[in-house]
Amino acid sequence: MYQPVMMTPIDFRSDNTAGAAPEILEALKKANTETAPAYGQDRWTLELQERVRELFANPHAQAFPVMSGTAANSLVLSAMCPPWGSILCHESAHILQSECNATSMFGGGASIRGLAGNGHLLTPESLQDAFKNTGWGDNHQSQPSVLSLTLPSDFGTSYTLDQISALSETAKQRGLSIHVDGARIANVLAGQKISPAQLVRSSGVSALSLGGVKNGTLSADAIVSFDPRISEQLHYRLKRAGHIASKMRFQSAQLIAYLQDDLWLRQAARANAAMARLSAGFMDMGWNVLHPCSVNMAFVQMDESFAQRLWDLGLLFHRHPTGWARFVTSFATRSEDVDEALRRASSLR
Ligand SMILES: Cc1ncc(COP(=O)(O)O)c(C=O)c1O
Repeated sequence: MYQPVMMTPIDFRSDNTAGAAPEILEALKKANTETAPAYGQDRWTLELQERVRELFANPHAQAFPVMSGTAANSLVLSAMCPPWGSILCHESAHILQSECNATSMFGGGASIRGLAGNGHLLTPESLQDAFKNTGWGDNHQSQPSVLSLTLPSDFGTSYTLDQISALSETAKQRGLSIHVDGARIANVLAGQKISPAQLVRSSGVSALSLGGVKNGTLSADAIVSFDPRISEQLHYRLKRAGHIASKMRFQSAQLIAYLQDDLWLRQAARANAAMARLSAGFMDMGWNVLHPCSVNMAFVQMDESFAQRLWDLGLLFHRHPTGWARFVTSFATRSEDVDEALRRASSLR
């Protein structure tokens, strides 16, 4: 008879469960030795601006540290979309499904319109359909104003650069500006070997929510704006929302360290490699992996009793009530964690 055993947990619940990277903690320590001007006037925040201009090869790039991905998305989208406008995204996008209407609140009523697509990704056709069904200039309807691309999608799938360009071109023909929700953008850049500058060029993106927390920073994500009109608004909008930290130097010091010597990309590559091995092991065991694992997430169809047995073996993951499970690796996932997880899982066969 099946007997649950108490075992050391191996945590695949989320990359949010990982700690901070040693390089980030070191940067915090170094920034903690002197007094510094408050509210972003410090030398770290100034240096961060230079770094993003170089990294994204864009003279208008400006970074705004914030505490979370939700803050980054909702505040930048509120600056990009008029209150009567709508933000188009895939129907599974985080901004629509998991941010408690934060964008509508900060956007004074701006709405988010979820569109169907393919593999949790939008297609130019899905955008064209939305455009066809819009009463342009009709004040009874919200006016599509922004295209938000979630990169990678919440289900771990990713656009290629060509797909991004095609979507951007379609959106721009109708005057929309482009936002990228890059909570895990490093995983896409590292996975597809795309440079940050290439991404900006191909997407024509006006603003990017740049994730850090899931990949090793400590409450330090950022908005990177490439449009001075958006930057101007953010200056005020962030203050009103309580996201101008008085000791911003600690967020900026982390973000500098995060971007320095490609730390963000190296960490993301580690998380991706761990997932590649884990998901290959799942498939070898005949598990039903639902989407191509292009980054650090795998979704597996499994019933509740099987999920429970895995949990009893100390494997922690997100269990969805409709019968799928999500496994996420992080920069801190060790190869021995992957080996041990697969060993335990195979014992259930
Ligand atoms: C794609 C995506 N965007 C945004 C967020 C929001 O980040 P936070 O939870 O830090 O607000 C998440 C969080 O899981 C996410 O997965």
